[in-house]
Order: sequence, then structure tokens, then C-alpha cells
Amino acid sequence: MKILAGKFYGLGVGPGDPDLITLKAFRILEEVNLLCVPRSSSDRDSLALQVVKRLTGRETERLELSFPMSSERPVLEKSWAAAGEEVARKVRQGNRVAFVTIGDPMFYSTYAYVLRHLKFHHPDLETETVPGVTAMSACASALGIPLAEGDESVAVLPAVYGLKDLEKVVREFDNVVLMKVNKKVGEVAALLDRLGMRGKAVYFSRCGYGDQYVTANLDDLAGRRLDYMSLLIIKKRGFAGDTQAGAGGMNR
Ligand SMILES: C[S@@+](CC[C@H](N)C(=O)[O-])C[C@H]1O[C@@H](n2cnc3c(N)ncnc32)[C@H](O)[C@@H]1O
Repeated sequence: MKILAGKFYGLGVGPGDPDLITLKAFRILEEVNLLCVPRSSSDRDSLALQVVKRLTGRETERLELSFPMSSERPVLEKSWAAAGEEVARKVRQGNRVAFVTIGDPMFYSTYAYVLRHLKFHHPDLETETVPGVTAMSACASALGIPLAEGDESVAVLPAVYGLKDLEKVVREFDNVVLMKVNKKVGEVAALLDRLGMRGKAVYFSRCGYGDQYVTANLDDLAGRRLDYMSLLIIKKRGFAGDTQAGAGGMNR
């Protein structure tokens, strides 16, 4: 019988459509015996875990890790360290532990903080990160809009932390992706209007889920409660030739 030593994995499962997981991540998922479940104080079931459930159909034991919804660095650091210690303890007991993340594990994911703790405080433990399809790649593909071509530049910003730099970035870059944009869409729309860039952005929420929603008309979003799983792609040259976005024909 093959005896497997303890190991910690970070697995990207893609942005929602279970078919977008890599073969490697899928194979490892079948092999691990503990799945990390990130819990925040908002207590949402992990979306990555929902993808896993739709894929594997088997129940894997859970390791609940608590991450508070806080912007205070010391509070967050304490939770990352506690999670790292919990994972290390389990790996030392011989468990194969997977931290599944939406999209790519190295792109705006809590996994990276836990991994950093492990590498610093437990450098002897084995770790492996398996990349995943990012949400912005999936949205671009679903839309048929290239994120960049030729000599175009791209900037990615997490909109949730404030838009003070957005105007500068929009002026300097050809294309801009705004992650975590749900609470800032109104402000972004106002800025784009001011810059004469109305119609040069597409809003995409819950890509790959049954209720995915797309619009190139940001006015459609006024008064709606927008999902956290949403992003905005801004293209300075617009979308002519790519889709019907410019004609406002993308609502689904
Ligand atoms: C914590 S970040 C995770 C990013 C992820 N690791 C990736 O590689 O794309 C969460 C943000 O990713 C974006 N996102 C994730 N899944 C998405 C989806 N299915 N549709 C649209 N945006 C999504 C949203 O901007 C959301 O606020």
C-alpha cells in the first residue's frame, strides 16, 4: 500500500464552472483527506467548496479555519497565524490538507497568507500550489473580449479599497480590471462618465453560475444589490468588433 506523507496544497478550482478546474487540481482533490473551510464572520459557505461538492460527490473531512471580516492588519495577521498553526498541526499528523480557492490561489486569496505562515514558521513541511483559471480570464472568455492584445497594457485593481487611484490608472492603462467592484459600481460609472468613457466597461457577476449576469450598460445596475462575485472590465478602445457590448446587447 502506498503510504502518503502529510502535505499542504493550495488548489485553484476556477471561478465557478466546475469544468474549469485543472486535471492536476482534480486529481489531488481525489487524494486529500482534509479540506480547509474558510469561515468569515459573515459565515458564507465557501464558494470554492461548493464547486468541489459539484465535482467530487464525496464527503471529505473538513478543517474549519476562521478569518474575520476585518480590515485591521493585526486582527487579520492573528487569524492567518492561527490558521497556519492549525494546518501545520494537521500536516504533521500525516494529513493531506487542501485549501481550495476560487479562481487562482495566488491571486487575491487568503490561501497565500496561510502558505506564507507555513513557509516561514514550518519550512520543513511539504507544500504545493496548483494554479487555477482566474475570474477575469473566465469573464473575458465568456464575453469573447481579449483582456489584452498586441501592445496593450492591463491593470488590475481591487475596487473595494477605494477608487482614488482609478482615474490615474484608467488614463495610463489601455485596459483595467476592477475586482471586488460590487459596492463601487456607482462611483466607477460616474468616473467613466466624467472621462467620456461611458460604454467602455462591462460588468460581469457570478460568471459560470446558473445566475450569471452581464451588462455593458452600467445604468442597469442602479438600485440593484450587486453580488460580491462580480468584476468590471474597462477597455479604453471600447468593445467594437469584439461583442455587441457597445450596443448594450449583453444582458443575460
Ligand atoms: C477574493 S477575490 C478572488 C479572486 C480569485 N482568486 C481569482 O483568481 O479570480 C474575489 C473577487 O474575484 C472576482 N470573482 C471571483 N469569482 C467570480 C465570478 N464567478 N464572476 C465574477 N467575478 C468573480 C470578484 O471580483 C470577487 O470580488
